[in-house]
Amino acid sequence: MKRIVILASGTGSLAQEIINADFSDVDGEVVAVVCDKPGAQVLQRAEAAHIESYLIAMIDDRAQWNRELETLIAALRPTLVVSAGFMRILPEAITTRFKIINSHPALLPAFPGAHAVRDALAAGATETGTTIHWVDAGVDTGEVIAQEKIEILASDTEESLHERIKIIERGLIVATIRRVLPTLEQ
Ligand code: GRF
Repeated sequence: MKRIVILASGTGSLAQEIINADFSDVDGEVVAVVCDKPGAQVLQRAEAAHIESYLIAMIDDRAQWNRELETLIAALRPTLVVSAGFMRILPEAITTRFKIINSHPALLPAFPGAHAVRDALAAGATETGTTIHWVDAGVDTGEVIAQEKIEILASDTEESLHERIKIIERGLIVATIRRVLPTLEQ
């Protein structure tokens, strides 16, 4: 069985979509959710789905936190790590050791970083979307695997636009996991 480990920090609607999906046709299974935010809704979602969840709250010693996260992920023996709303930059030790994909709410290379939706609006962009990419040591610089576009409406606020992006993100991240898993060793 190919083991999927989800990293998430917040609401967890993308994580929920992945948890709800059936990957048995590609020999995959979600085995754990790892979160860095105490009380995050994604932890409740994992519990409700009877999926192991781990909280690794940020500490002052970032290098120590990086090591603890690497040790935790290694212990979970992932075939694929899926960053689904995980709002921490992963150290090179982790990005070079594990196969990791990330979902980003913009059409990379445009609008990388933590405020992609806000930045697209501020730039007066007429379209944006979502990108699923491999994670490397940079910020949203890894090889693009899949993208989907949406139009930005004149009436859009950051919140309304982000919610519309999440709708396509949820579908694309599940489709991408289904596409990528068969290419990975156990
Ligand atoms: C997603 O839009 C993701 O691209 C971004 O954070 C959001 C997470 O949404 N990094 P949710 O917590 O899964 O609802």
